[in-house]
Amino acid sequence: MEQWQERLEKSGSLEELENLRIEIFGKKGFFAKEFEKLKTLPKEEKPRVAKELNIAKERLFKALQAKKDKLLAKEIEKKLKSESIDVSLYSPKGFKGAYHPVNHTMDKIIEYFISLNYSIETGPLVEDDFYNFEALNLPKYHPARDMQDTFYFKDGKLLRTHTSPVQIRTMQKERPPIRMISPGAVFRRDYDLTHTPMFHQVEGLVVDEKGKVSFANLKFILEDFLHYMFGDVKVRFRPSFFPFTEPSAEVDISCIFCKGEGCRVCSHTGWLEVLGCGMVDPNVFEAVGYKDVSGYAFGLGVERFAMLIHQIPDLRVLFEGDIRLLEQFR
Ligand code: PHE
Repeated sequence: MEQWQERLEKSGSLEELENLRIEIFGKKGFFAKEFEKLKTLPKEEKPRVAKELNIAKERLFKALQAKKDKLLAKEIEKKLKSESIDVSLYSPKGFKGAYHPVNHTMDKIIEYFISLNYSIETGPLVEDDFYNFEALNLPKYHPARDMQDTFYFKDGKLLRTHTSPVQIRTMQKERPPIRMISPGAVFRRDYDLTHTPMFHQVEGLVVDEKGKVSFANLKFILEDFLHYMFGDVKVRFRPSFFPFTEPSAEVDISCIFCKGEGCRVCSHTGWLEVLGCGMVDPNVFEAVGYKDVSGYAFGLGVERFAMLIHQIPDLRVLFEGDIRLLEQFR
């Protein structure tokens, strides 16, 4: 028995131990043979010897189990050591992320207006009817409200459908002269190739004493701005309608894909619509209690700018979080 005990202690690997187990407990092993020998013993000897054998068998089996646990632990430790990874190692191929094209475009727009000393204003995303519509010359039941598919809350509040409410908030807070832009997220119930339920706008507002701000000023600034954003393009102003501006215009640039020849992106017109603008409607000034002032305002969609600058055909990819999009903008 001692001899087995000793060999168990000495075995240095799981494989060695397994061989030993077969030698001791296997079908043709030590104990099998010992129990076989019982048959040849005199009757009165049998119970005593059998009992001794069983005790010894149990003891050895426990020793084997303990040794096995020890060897297993050792093996795991060895494996962990050999397989450990150095998380501080430099990985030359790793993708470190990139600035989102919408942020990039937003930055470029903001940069331009900061250089002209415009202030940056912000407002809440959850707005009142007053700021989003009423004060902007959009009374209840005004048909132009249908232009903007609004998300409403149960209490009558809403997700702002444009950045124009920040015009109102800024005029309430400040006195003229005002020269501001307001970048931020807006929300509309819309989802297709060129619309997502959340997108970004930049609003612009300039207000000063009556006669100091003209449509000519507006035209000059926007033309210069669009050249800064898109390079050498033609710019044209088209008469349009917004409830909060009068007169109003939409601004087109010559198609940057076909250079005005006509292609699929510009629907074969040679022009791309990029901005809405106009002279602030007197009703808007009245809503904030401004007298004897004039001003202009404009609004643009940042995703639309980003799509044109980076030639992205489907607006929705900007918000799907697919890393392969960002990888192209490192
Ligand atoms: N708020 C308008 C829109 O979301 C854009 C706009 C702003 C037009 C300011 C004129 C003046 O479509």
